[in-house]
Amino acid sequence: MTYASTPPHVLCQDLFKIYKIADLEVVALRGLDFIVDSGEVVAIVGASGSGKSTLLNILAGYDSPSAGAVQVGGQDLLRMSSKQVEQYRQRQVGFVWQQTSRNLFPYLSTLDNVSLPMMLIEMDAAERRARAVDLLEMMGLERRAEHTPEKLSGGEQQRVAIAIALANHPSLLLADEPTGELDDETAAEILDLFGVVNRELGTTVVIVTHDPDIAYKVGRVVMIRDGKMSTEIRRRITFQRISGVAEQDQELEEFVLVDGSGRVQIPRDILDSLNITGRARAGIEDGKATLAPDE
Ligand SMILES: Nc1ncnc2c1ncn2[C@@H]1O[C@H](COP(=O)(O)OP(=O)(O)OP(=O)(O)O)[C@@H](O)[C@H]1O
Ligand SMILES: [Mg+2]
Repeated sequence: MTYASTPPHVLCQDLFKIYKIADLEVVALRGLDFIVDSGEVVAIVGASGSGKSTLLNILAGYDSPSAGAVQVGGQDLLRMSSKQVEQYRQRQVGFVWQQTSRNLFPYLSTLDNVSLPMMLIEMDAAERRARAVDLLEMMGLERRAEHTPEKLSGGEQQRVAIAIALANHPSLLLADEPTGELDDETAAEILDLFGVVNRELGTTVVIVTHDPDIAYKVGRVVMIRDGKMSTEIRRRITFQRISGVAEQDQELEEFVLVDGSGRVQIPRDILDSLNITGRARAGIEDGKATLAPDE
């Protein structure tokens, strides 16, 4: 795969992930390509079981693919030693899960929760505190610093989770359905915060969501189907952004994605309306590729 000048922040090529449970094999990713530029915001959508969490876990260094290549920030994740992977997880990537309980330690105050990742990399106490206070301010939580998670609302807990994820200055922020358990209004506030993080810190953001309006809230949405990227929706103008408000007046463009081997997933509605099954005639007409049913 080629890219213009600077390498992309995230580069996945022909990723496969096969889970084996006893004699059964589940193919979670099948030849997935995915590129994210530095400082970009991308949303990933797809049906349940399509491979979204699998991809995010691989990018976070929690899991490795069965085949394919993954680079983040120019580093090959598959060539890292376990110690290097641990450092990568601690410093270069932040992760926010859907379940608020998974993001926070129940007995620690908000401030201590945010400080913990910095303790693990042995940042000194004064710097730690200053960083935690800054992040809590950015998340609008300065008055919740001494509260334990049980005293916080779901939305506040997710704000803490974002602060924790950002503690060690990662350049990549991954979030797996971070608003899945929140009401619409709170979900919009949290999405806005991802926008603040992206704008103010320049953090690259990859967010998995089931939000049906997401295309009107981010610059680019990619859809996973059966473990492979199938289509992409971009807004025609103002590309790089994320906000909680759906800007319905934005003009969107939808593309099918062509992978490194020329493979394309034709959207189901097109196949159905042309009655294409199994086999089709491909051609070129007026500078366009055409696909017609095999009559
Ligand atoms: N640890 C695992 N062991 C076995 N199979 C797994 C494992 N994790 C995921 N799978 C399978 O891999 C496929 C993709 O799962 P994944 O969790 O990535 O989907 P998803 O798109 O995140 O779905 P959802 O929207 O429900 O979260 C599914 O068929 C799932 O059952
Ligand atoms: Mg998932």
